Amino acid sequence: MDSNSNQSRPIGVFDSGVGGLTVVRALMERLPMENIVYFGDTARVPYGMKSRSTIETFTAQIVDFLLSQDVKALVIACNTIAAVAGHKVRQAAGNMPVLDVIAAGAEAALATTRNGHIGVIATATTVNSNAYARAIHSRHPDARVQSQSCPLLVPLVEEGWLGHEVTRLTVREYLKPLLAERIDTLVLGCTHYPLLKPLLRQEAQEVELVDSALTTAEAAARALADAGLLNSANPAPDYRFYVSDIPLRFRTIGERFLGRSMDQIEMMPLG
Ligand code: DGL
Repeated sequence: MDSNSNQSRPIGVFDSGVGGLTVVRALMERLPMENIVYFGDTARVPYGMKSRSTIETFTAQIVDFLLSQDVKALVIACNTIAAVAGHKVRQAAGNMPVLDVIAAGAEAALATTRNGHIGVIATATTVNSNAYARAIHSRHPDARVQSQSCPLLVPLVEEGWLGHEVTRLTVREYLKPLLAERIDTLVLGCTHYPLLKPLLRQEAQEVELVDSALTTAEAAARALADAGLLNSANPAPDYRFYVSDIPLRFRTIGERFLGRSMDQIEMMPLG
């Protein structure tokens, strides 16, 4: 295969559901010439409370599907998948670049913090896996990492209550222990949290926010450039969205995450 056809292959992005569209949105902005195939496991979401072995099984099915779409790189948009099954994805992908929100978020947090106290908010499975703390400590053993699981935030975001008083009080409660530790940097360790940035900025005014979607898009741009896989001559990129179920209001919620309309949505049941 010549290098041009390699470059025009799509990037495969996947998540437990719609949340990964925040990463797709960041990729579309950072890499506007790239074709993208997205898979969201909407039939089995949420993953954030599921066990490692279940998530590994589901992830293997998603990766098989994306590899069958001839992708040139994989982006694990879901923090929970990256936390417990990232190594499995890398095994399956062989030499293909694999980017994930946790590695990118850990690096960005270390580049941002001045006092070395980093907070992480994420799903329960991501927090219990300790993946962010490990990723940060492997790069900087002296950093202090305080993690907080925030299981109520995913449903509040999907409900569209981005500035609602209930969400504000919930966020305030979750942030209390982190602010008590005097964190100066907060990693948004879940696909849904970038939509809460305006609220989080108000509730944690002295704290810098690390948006894993943006940092992952940046890391993807670097990895594709290093591998000679950047698509630089594709002014009308192709975006395809596959989901394992099309629940009620899927398009409305998806378009809120993506920040634009979703034209090609297809059902692809797995398992
Ligand atoms: N995508 C998940 C994450 O980033 C959140 C939704 C879920 O629990 O599946 O952790």
